[in-house]
Amino acid sequence: MKPLTIAIDGHSSTGKSTLAKQLAKELGYVYVDSGAMYRAVAFNALQNGWVSKEQGALADQINAHLDDLVIDFELDADGKNTTLLNGEIVEEAIRTMEVSNVVSHVAKLVPVRRRLVALQQQMGENGGVVMDGRDIGTVVFPNAELKIFMTASDEVRAGRRKAELDAKGQYHSLEDVLENLKSRDKADMERADSPLIAAEDARTLDNSAISREEQFQLVLSWVSELKG
Ligand code: CDP
Repeated sequence: MKPLTIAIDGHSSTGKSTLAKQLAKELGYVYVDSGAMYRAVAFNALQNGWVSKEQGALADQINAHLDDLVIDFELDADGKNTTLLNGEIVEEAIRTMEVSNVVSHVAKLVPVRRRLVALQQQMGENGGVVMDGRDIGTVVFPNAELKIFMTASDEVRAGRRKAELDAKGQYHSLEDVLENLKSRDKADMERADSPLIAAEDARTLDNSAISREEQFQLVLSWVSELKG
């Protein structure tokens, strides 16, 4: 049987990438973090002064320089997924609050989305892929065999993201972290082009009150069901 395409979408910080990585490892599939690609474009825009939290994005500048950007993924020595921008490792740099605060401004630009969606479709063209993001089941792989839409309560999400940032020595108040998650969700759901929305045939997964392992086992049962 042809390997599956698994699309995982959902709100910010709902553990999409944790689940996607677990599944890719278990099934021997490729994992693609589509959010890292939007973050890489936003990081580059920040460095060039083309975006700010308050003023939004300078669309013309960002769009005009899209061809200069080469985004790749690599596994590091520990087998961890690493994002490269023009050959440089940006894995840590793209996950700061500074980038989180501007990424949704950049992610709503139509040329940015067109370019990244085309790249994502190329990366998953042979199936055997788990991709997480906001529009994977609706736009990137509308024919994916398994679509999951993840959500969790605000408190759980903010607590998780704060713990992740704390572990990296990036200290922010719980209020600031929550404010960022909510404002990104709002921007992602309200944008005109490929807004964050559950695909009609997606299975909803609220993991506010279930453990990582329980969630993993549940999704593996869905995979077995589909594989027949
Ligand atoms: O890790 P977290 O869920 O907080 O975010 P992410 O997956 O790294 O995505 C960062 C941002 O990129 C999102 O808030 C969206 O604005 C954008 N994004 C998108 O528009 N479409 C995708 N397929 C993936 C991410």
